[in-house]
Amino acid sequence: MNTEEIMALDKKYVMQTYGRQPLALKKGSGAVVWDVEGNSYIDCLAGIAVNNVGHAHPRIAEAIADQAKELIHTSNLYYTRQQVELGELLVGVSPHDLAFFCNSGAEAVEGSIKLARKYTGKGGIVAMENSFHGRTLTALTATGQKKYQKGFGPLTPGFTHVPYGDIEAVRKAITDETAAVLVEPIQGEGGVVVPPEGYLKSLKELCQEKDILLIFDEVQTGFGRTGEMFASQTFNVTPDITALAKGIAGGFPMGAVMAIEDVGSAFQPGDHAATFGGGPLACAAAIASIKVILDEDLLTKSKENGNYFQSKLNFLKEDHGIVEDVRGSGLMLGMELDVECGNMVNDMREEGVLINCAAGKVLRFVPPLVIEKDQIDTVSCILGDVLKKYSD
Ligand SMILES: Cc1ncc(COP(=O)(O)O)c(C=O)c1O
Repeated sequence: MNTEEIMALDKKYVMQTYGRQPLALKKGSGAVVWDVEGNSYIDCLAGIAVNNVGHAHPRIAEAIADQAKELIHTSNLYYTRQQVELGELLVGVSPHDLAFFCNSGAEAVEGSIKLARKYTGKGGIVAMENSFHGRTLTALTATGQKKYQKGFGPLTPGFTHVPYGDIEAVRKAITDETAAVLVEPIQGEGGVVVPPEGYLKSLKELCQEKDILLIFDEVQTGFGRTGEMFASQTFNVTPDITALAKGIAGGFPMGAVMAIEDVGSAFQPGDHAATFGGGPLACAAAIASIKVILDEDLLTKSKENGNYFQSKLNFLKEDHGIVEDVRGSGLMLGMELDVECGNMVNDMREEGVLINCAAGKVLRFVPPLVIEKDQIDTVSCILGDVLKKYSD
């Protein structure tokens, strides 16, 4: 089937919830993907910050294939070695002590909110404007962007939104009923927004002062994306709870709620569950993926190549007046323009580079952490030509 035929069948059989690009992908390797016609693309989107270890990594493929031959699913009525092995590995690389496994980012956010409510016995959550936390109803409520909520009310009670980066606004929003503050360490879908210096540290201090919990949504920033395993380490601030997903299992669907011991122990048998959560197949993929990040030193690579990529984008900023800002950390980068960037995404794709446009005017670059410098050079070169076209 060619791309056009696939697109026609999609229209016929699949609910049209996505504004897809006219591209049908067939295979990938490292930071490159190929469409069904055989054209190759440098992938600077990585399945939206998911394929951190690169496409078709042999160790991930082998882990999944070997596990699938032995045991795919058990339910959480029984123990598996893979689940505890992953728990131990995650505790070792994170600032947390306990994990709950689920299947997606939205589910990890939901679980984090439930845990905060259970632990504190309170219902209020202070979340941020311009945030994104997922599409299930409570994650959608937490999401501070009205465009995603329109038409889906009534939403979950108990949420207040304040401007991202404004510590005094958080202070004002906290009441006797507040359980937690929920924040992305760097806002992803909101346009790769980096918080002001010291903001996350101040948030932590404020939460301690008010005796409420701090939840980091690291669904997008986790697993090496910002240069350390987690953005909490990049910013040197330890939250009480962290929501994880995306890069956790090399592209295999999985999510996790992690917490410090005292907080995580609030969940008792029967409090929370997911039939598929932490199944042996997902756990085998996650174990392999985290080991690849460590063994291949992808954290250093994320930092080094992230700095290199950012410097290339800054050179382009100097040459093109339509570029307003370049920002990010590690390999989570954004280039804000003074024009809408939807069409540029199409131009880039036609020249063999996949990116996307966040928040209308921000080109987002979240490539696999294995991207090489010469691939970054190619992307910068193509981007320069595209920016030129829109500058004229
Ligand atoms: C910060 C953040 N939280 C939550 C989500 C939702 O994740 P999922 O699509 O896996 O439900 C996303 C997805 O983009 C995200 O970026």
